[in-house]
Amino acid sequence: MSAINPSILSADFANLEAELAKIATADAVHVDVMDNHFVPNLTIGLPVVQRIQEVSPVPLDVHLMITDVDRWAPEYADTGAASVTFHVEASAAPIRLVRELRARGSRAGLALRPATPVEPYLDLLAELDLLLVMTVEPGFGGQPFLETMLPKIRRARSAIDGSGAAVALQVDGGVSVETIEQAAEAGATVFVAGSAVYNSPDPAEAVQMLRQIADHAGG
Ligand code: DX5
Ligand code: ZN
Repeated sequence: MSAINPSILSADFANLEAELAKIATADAVHVDVMDNHFVPNLTIGLPVVQRIQEVSPVPLDVHLMITDVDRWAPEYADTGAASVTFHVEASAAPIRLVRELRARGSRAGLALRPATPVEPYLDLLAELDLLLVMTVEPGFGGQPFLETMLPKIRRARSAIDGSGAAVALQVDGGVSVETIEQAAEAGATVFVAGSAVYNSPDPAEAVQMLRQIADHAGG
């Protein structure tokens, strides 16, 4: 079964509670935290994520695109978020951090920018709950899906299957009804979609369509 996690980056930030209600049939809400250092964009921080956690009808999938992640990620786990994913490029001690997140009751995810190879991290799979292969350069919604990431998704899938570890394989960036099939065929199981859901006239229907295509392709 595929999971569809809409990203509120493309939602109306002045009406988050109403925007969250539109995706009550999704598997989780993807919350993009950006600090204008790790990426050239600035979104929301801890107090807003805490409130989202209080009002969201679905669990939180927090994606941290911040530089000082060793310092801040545990605080996001403390909000009650179901998962906290950080970029390996930003962490000085990723194993310590995933263990800390899990100790605080959150699932732990490791994210890779498009130019970051997956191979150096394959030995860490047993420590992880989720691996995020970015399919755009992080920072903005609405960018085109990078098909050049498909081989990395395939390699990650076969490594996860070979390891026997229960690691979800997430893709984020440019996921739409046009691109989700190839990502699912390559082995992704969790799909983040911002503009494809929130720019649709019927976000719940968009979630349903994405899930249907992914389930069919992923088999
Ligand atoms: C981009 C964010 C994504 C973004 C995806 O850096 O991590 O989660 O919201 O947006 P779309 O689906 O429009 O590419
Ligand atoms: Zn994201």
